[in-house]
Amino acid sequence: MLSEKTLVSVGLFVAGFFSLGEGIIGGREAAAHSRPYMASIQVAEGDRVKHECGGFVVADQWVMTAVHCLPTGANGRKVVLGVHSLSLGEDTKQTFDILELHNHPEFNPDNYDNDIALIKLDRPFNASEAVKVVAFLRAGGVNPDTDAEVETAGWGSLDNLGSRPDTLKEAVIQVVRSTRCQRSDYFGKKFTDNMICAHKLCPDPCDRPHKMEDSCDGDSGGPLLYNGVVVGITSNGGKKCGQIKKPGIYTIISHYTEWLDGIMGLRPDA
Ligand SMILES: *[C@@H]1O[C@H](CO)[C@@H](O)[C@H](O)[C@H]1NC(C)=O
Repeated sequence: MLSEKTLVSVGLFVAGFFSLGEGIIGGREAAAHSRPYMASIQVAEGDRVKHECGGFVVADQWVMTAVHCLPTGANGRKVVLGVHSLSLGEDTKQTFDILELHNHPEFNPDNYDNDIALIKLDRPFNASEAVKVVAFLRAGGVNPDTDAEVETAGWGSLDNLGSRPDTLKEAVIQVVRSTRCQRSDYFGKKFTDNMICAHKLCPDPCDRPHKMEDSCDGDSGGPLLYNGVVVGITSNGGKKCGQIKKPGIYTIISHYTEWLDGIMGLRPDA
């Protein structure tokens, strides 16, 4: 299997035909530590570490993310909590090794179906203003309807050329009707019932450099929030960011309650 670094280079070479993940196009800088559940998954690159994917804290020792962020295992990656700036030595940061990685066993690399993973940190985090758990939607909970406003956040690319922000970005986007994302000029059959798609058109005339707000390379694994509860995981690469007919794709978390509870030991009989 190609290393992700190779994949990213190849992706850039073919002008973003393939992207490792998702990031924020348009949007704005988040207030520092206003989303204290955000996690940065980082990989060693020489003697430095580099942000690769997002995630979010769901319990004292657990971070949720996307399978396609770590498809072949943790391979020495670190999880950093309490981050606003990736580069600064913020005293809010807490860094962890990955004790366990649970990739969903039915993840499909062809269309990213079941793109949901859980990371067990090597120790519980210390709760602070900068590091807190976020609630996620369980089976029976209400997912956002078409046109509902949802939020996403991450440290992903700002454009299709891969320029990365140093601080956390966020964007308000809108859910797109699933039947539209199933159309052959959108994602066709690759778009499954386990996915939500969302984006936002910039009002016309558009005063931003990018016409669309969207997630883009580098923020896979991050959250999609509806009324402050995480309902989705930023999932699908394989597309350019900010294209009209290619909204961002998010894994619907409420479809995996039993699997998640089993792993985190929340099921009484587990
Ligand atoms: C939490 O705080 C204690 C006491 O300051 C420290 O020893 C420990 O390493 C901290 N844990 C983490 C995860 O940073």
